[in-house]
Amino acid sequence: MKNSALAALAAFLVSTPVVIAVPVYGQCGGIGYTGSTVCDAGSTCTYSNDWYSQCLPGSSNPTTTPRPTSTTSTSTRPTSGTTTTTSTGPISTDNPYVGYDVYLSPYYAAEVAAAVKNIKDATIAAKAASVAKIPTFTWYDIAAKVPDLGVDLANAKSIQTSTGKKQLVQIVVYDLPDRDCHAKASNGEYSIANGGEAKYRAYIDAIAAQISKYPDIRIVAVVEPDSLANLVTNLSDPKCANAANVYKSSTIYAIQKLNQSNVYLYLDAGHGGWLGWDANLAPAAQLFGQLLKTAGGTYRVRGLATNVSNYNALRTNTPDPITQGNKCYSEELYANALGPLLTQNGFPAHFIIDQGRSGVQNIRKEWGNWCNILGAGFGIRPTTNTGNSLIDAIVWIKPGGESDGTSDTSSPRYDSTCGLSDSTRPAPEAGTWFQAYFETLVTKANPAL
Ligand code: BGC
Repeated sequence: MKNSALAALAAFLVSTPVVIAVPVYGQCGGIGYTGSTVCDAGSTCTYSNDWYSQCLPGSSNPTTTPRPTSTTSTSTRPTSGTTTTTSTGPISTDNPYVGYDVYLSPYYAAEVAAAVKNIKDATIAAKAASVAKIPTFTWYDIAAKVPDLGVDLANAKSIQTSTGKKQLVQIVVYDLPDRDCHAKASNGEYSIANGGEAKYRAYIDAIAAQISKYPDIRIVAVVEPDSLANLVTNLSDPKCANAANVYKSSTIYAIQKLNQSNVYLYLDAGHGGWLGWDANLAPAAQLFGQLLKTAGGTYRVRGLATNVSNYNALRTNTPDPITQGNKCYSEELYANALGPLLTQNGFPAHFIIDQGRSGVQNIRKEWGNWCNILGAGFGIRPTTNTGNSLIDAIVWIKPGGESDGTSDTSSPRYDSTCGLSDSTRPAPEAGTWFQAYFETLVTKANPAL
């Protein structure tokens, strides 16, 4: 924004009698921030760093704090009686997957069951049907799906009660305003320009409300695929630059609000071919560490999720030629490289790694290609037997068979990456069922189904 526009905005704010108070945990200051600096009653605008001040619980009257110029961090932690439900503190050192049965997503099972009906070959159909029994994350990519979480948690609870086996439900939190800032395929329902930040908070509140009803069901949540990774490498894209502060404050809101002892959060960390380059590793670790510092604690963050919806190998002796020049040519090498840097930055160095579509390697023309890659097969099955103490579990996060993006050039969500020669075409809109792609994943699965 130009200076004259800023001055006009400042004059407007000063002369306008009605000031909208920022809700608890909302942003109230920082370089480039132009919103209200008045916090809701019971909270104070608290300086975290030059880019971010936040309304934190702790005062009885609405307060205003101008953006401080000092660089001293004064971030505080919420105390009891706030919107969080349990006290904060470093997460326990346990791997959330150990000792738990992973609940099977009925949403994905229904997609798979419908797909199986369209497969004529009985052998392939049987293999396809078996995919519904492999634990796969359920994505909450629009707020309207959140009530389904309550249904799943109730189901998980009744399974737990009847079998005596502890249940773990896997979800992806995915509804940031101006989502997918450096691509188009997964543009979401909320925009920053249209009150998206407040709507996102309501979405998180709704998820938290469901989870708090089932304190004895464990939740593993992957938080916002691609968002923070875009802030490491793609701030030259105006949409990402514009979204950066809202991505950060919204992620912090999610971390603080999903602060219940049955929850384990893994923030998304792109993949080795993105943040694993030498120049990106340290800035990535700093961003993750800074985020928790600003949040005022680790809360229930257990670590990072990598390779979400991507195709990289967990480990390999024969690196794909497209990875040349990057020492993190597998996800394990990426975790090994990032782990110590995370520790230095005060961020928990634990990983879950998506291998759902990584069964076949050397299928991309360039490492940056990600859309419905031709020839992909289902990969290593979910397991805690990872052979690496940094890696909590191999998981299937992207539901195999759901599209990454449309190849229809006339769609507003058409991303040219989905029209490349190593993408499967024609492809439907992101998140919708892609039968031909699913069938290839089944037949090329490695290990075989
Ligand atoms: C889509 C989401 C979908 C997710 C999982 C994303 O690319 O944008 O709508 O839920 O993939 O398939």
